Amino acid sequence: MEPIRVGLLGLGVVGGGTFKVLARNAEEIARRAGRRIVVTKVSARDLTRAKERVGNDAEVVTDPFEIVRDPSIDIVVELIGGTGIARDLVLEALAQGKHVVTANKALLAKHGNEIFALASSKGLMVSFEAAVAGGIPIIKAIREGLTANRIEWVAGIINGTTNFILSEMRDRGLPFADVLKEAQALGYAEADPTFDVEGVDAAHKLTLLASIAFGIPVQFDRAHIEGISQLSAVDIKYAEELGYRIKLLGITKRRADGIELRVHPTLVPSKRLIANVEGAMNAVLVKGDAVGDTLYYGKGAGEEPTASAVVADLVDVTRLHTADPEHRVPHLAFQPDSISDAPI
Ligand code: HSE
Repeated sequence: MEPIRVGLLGLGVVGGGTFKVLARNAEEIARRAGRRIVVTKVSARDLTRAKERVGNDAEVVTDPFEIVRDPSIDIVVELIGGTGIARDLVLEALAQGKHVVTANKALLAKHGNEIFALASSKGLMVSFEAAVAGGIPIIKAIREGLTANRIEWVAGIINGTTNFILSEMRDRGLPFADVLKEAQALGYAEADPTFDVEGVDAAHKLTLLASIAFGIPVQFDRAHIEGISQLSAVDIKYAEELGYRIKLLGITKRRADGIELRVHPTLVPSKRLIANVEGAMNAVLVKGDAVGDTLYYGKGAGEEPTASAVVADLVDVTRLHTADPEHRVPHLAFQPDSISDAPI
């Protein structure tokens, strides 16, 4: 069978990781997907550097629109980030009949309803496992593993940068600004780190989790958002003395009058599992009416953890494509018709 042809928009940290994982685990991935998945074209700003990274395995171009309009490409992977050109590219890719895989939480939190509606009208998939909690398969867990449940709430540490900052401030007594610089150097932080420290990145991810968990439209503008920039080492120390740890939590809950959607620093009793999630790790708790409490833990950022989620989405989309019914998993597509108008 012909391989599935993938166009990669952006060859940064996650793009490079995706390329690596697809190459290293090519055999297993092909077996699971039912056919080979090959990146045939990559767009990057720095052509020389990109060519060094992909060698002769893919064509490198500077214009990402060349990829979304290339009739030979089956799936477009958007890893450019932001809500500007990334929106135009994703909409164009869908208009051209291509499935989309993206790690772009800001884009989906802001323009998700428009993007999902277009995908649905064209019978295409927009998969975004990598957009929430990096390598943790939380979208699939909620959508598939917990599909029998009425979800009651979802709560978690979904921003690695702020969890790293809070952990380091507590353990090493360092000031906020110093630890932020370290998080940036380690590649955890967003291009604009205020998105991390002010809770915006966590709210983007929470908005997507709420949409999946409760079948509601994406409503980022209605989230309550508070970050960690006002916290000092003294707050962390006093919390510790009282038997608590401060964590930046994203919480979304079903209530009688609608859905709650909030991100803020939270006092968590030190004995709780989630209080002991340290460094840039993420952890998400989901409560379903049948299953009770469940907990998902792992790396929320970084090259290969995020690539792991991107490649998982590529495998899902490829299974849908394949002619072999054994490998078809059509229910993975976003189903906007399941959306209700529950107020938040
Ligand atoms: N800046 C994000 C974080 C990256 O720190 O969690 C992964 O989404």
